[in-house]
Amino acid sequence: MSITHAGQRPSKLFRLGILLSGRGSNFLAIAESIRAGKLAGVEIALVVSNVAEAPSIAAATEMGLPTAVLVSKGRKRAEYDADVAALLKAHGVDLICLAGYMRLLSPEFVAAFPHRILNIHPSLLPAFPGLDAQQQAFDYGVKVTGCTVHFVDDELDHGAIVLQRSVAVLVDDDAYSLAARILAEEHIAYTEAIARVVSGEYEVRGRRYVKTGNRE
Ligand code: GRF
Repeated sequence: MSITHAGQRPSKLFRLGILLSGRGSNFLAIAESIRAGKLAGVEIALVVSNVAEAPSIAAATEMGLPTAVLVSKGRKRAEYDADVAALLKAHGVDLICLAGYMRLLSPEFVAAFPHRILNIHPSLLPAFPGLDAQQQAFDYGVKVTGCTVHFVDDELDHGAIVLQRSVAVLVDDDAYSLAARILAEEHIAYTEAIARVVSGEYEVRGRRYVKTGNRE
């Protein structure tokens, strides 16, 4: 395990913990939104990768963000997740954002952060959960797909939906061109979803995220 900037700084900002495994474009989009003032009062408290070679960890370090690499390979899920949860808590994380985190979370981890974990998935859930959602949607022949930001519960790609953005499937698309347009929408969606959660102006009623104060 390697950690930089270990420990919690006193702060009134809303603190994000980012979990990722690879490319990290959603993490970079969130970081850019914070830099550009689109997520006022929000900071990234910690970026955690379960994969040593994740290129986005180097990018996070260059940005001066606290990072941790905890290699998950070969470790028991519950024990590994307990280590990650302890690290997130030590850094005073208010909201965990899964950003291409290619690991299922243990029920204990999910229970430790009730309605405090967001995930982004590249389809309009509940259609096409799991891996290669863009390819699944393309192969199925749907005319509209998109992305979903949702709270994480014990089932894969399942918790209450915070928001979705749609993407039309074009005649000339292949799964790659479609995935690229979905990814552009993901980058917008994640910032919007974080802003919604940070605002605190919502309730989760059963499966429904409901913005309070209006009928959304
Ligand atoms: C995204 O398509 C996201 O929806 C899915 O994993 C991918 C991660 O991409 N959960 P990136 O690492 O954020 O670029």
